[in-house]
Amino acid sequence: MSIRLDGEGLEGIVAARTVLSHSDGEQGIVWVRGHTIDDLVTRHGYEGTVALLWDGFAGTGLTRDAILHQLGAARPLAFSRLDDWLPAAAKRPPIEGLRLALAALPDASSPAEILATLPVATAALLRVRDGKAPIKPDPSLSTAADVLCMLNGAAVEERFAIALESYLTAVIDNGLGTSTFAARVIISTRASLAAAVVGAYGAFTGPLHGGAPGLALDMLDEIAASGDVDRWLDRTLAGGGRLMGFGHRVFRIRDPRADLLRAALQRLDPGNKRLAFAKEVERRAVAALQRRKPGRRLEANIEMDAALLLDAIGLPREAFTPVFAIARAVAWIAHALEQQRNGRMIRPSSTYVGPAPTA
Ligand code: ACO
Repeated sequence: MSIRLDGEGLEGIVAARTVLSHSDGEQGIVWVRGHTIDDLVTRHGYEGTVALLWDGFAGTGLTRDAILHQLGAARPLAFSRLDDWLPAAAKRPPIEGLRLALAALPDASSPAEILATLPVATAALLRVRDGKAPIKPDPSLSTAADVLCMLNGAAVEERFAIALESYLTAVIDNGLGTSTFAARVIISTRASLAAAVVGAYGAFTGPLHGGAPGLALDMLDEIAASGDVDRWLDRTLAGGGRLMGFGHRVFRIRDPRADLLRAALQRLDPGNKRLAFAKEVERRAVAALQRRKPGRRLEANIEMDAALLLDAIGLPREAFTPVFAIARAVAWIAHALEQQRNGRMIRPSSTYVGPAPTA
């Protein structure tokens, strides 16, 4: 028998005060340090947003140039440490391999060292998976451009790096996501920042959270192969399955960032083959969810548009979660440092519903 408790899943519970980010699921708002996501994408980019989020926590007066320099210097260091974990990780899927890469970080690692590990490790894991040697980072490049160069072994067309940077910036932070909360919980015990990031990444990899984008694309392909969208959706929902890329704990309307990613996709690949079908599936999926859960507003989240964009950039599905983590790790670090400075140890309570002792 399952018993629903008040506050289950901590829905609606305020667990932190933060100056970092905010999302309002009724109005479709996401703010990061007083900036809209649109502003971040068009004016600040990935490194500029790292500077905004980390300023006051991982240094003061941080600028985009300072972060470009810090991350550029930290990537070669991360590359020099590949031998610490890559031999074991090479035998695992990239999503697991990245966990080993983060777990190998020393406790004393700086924020830039931790963050730079993600792009270097992601590229190395994908290269060795394909039987190729890892490629050294280029400190002069932005993170987005360097990931693609480390993956492809050659200079990449600028439009791909621009699209990837738009993605990384758009999904960088959105309030107290589950993995961000995990980072806060871990550092609240005075564990290290590196430990907080490993734990946050673990929380992130689940299919209900950061593991979703690759599965959303798998679902789209499965629906296309079935030849009958409504039948596939109804059968899946009747069997208790979840539609990947739909529903959100906070957003009760279509995730506002999805349109931003869709616009980036249309700029990169105006004739994208899957987009029209994805729109049709979205329309029918929202209607099917409405029929099944009439009391709950379940709309598209960001993951289907994210998956289409990452695919158009040329990234394999196994890379989607690690690449997503390159963005979200910025928030894990910022929130963990904020928690470390201002927060109390996080320790909620539970309601005991088991038997009383008999003796
Ligand atoms: N497909 C089918 N049913 C769903 C879906 C979905 N995508 N989303 C919610 N539901 C169902 C729930 O099972 C629940 O049913 P129940 O009352 O019978 O248990 C009901 O709708 C209400 O759900 P919520 O309370 O709104 O969902 P919750 O906040 O617990 O979960 C979550 C949010 C995990 C994102 C969920 O919507 C889901 O599983 N979505 C699919 C996975 C996905 O796309 N994840 C990425 C999210 S974005 C991110 O984290 C990066």
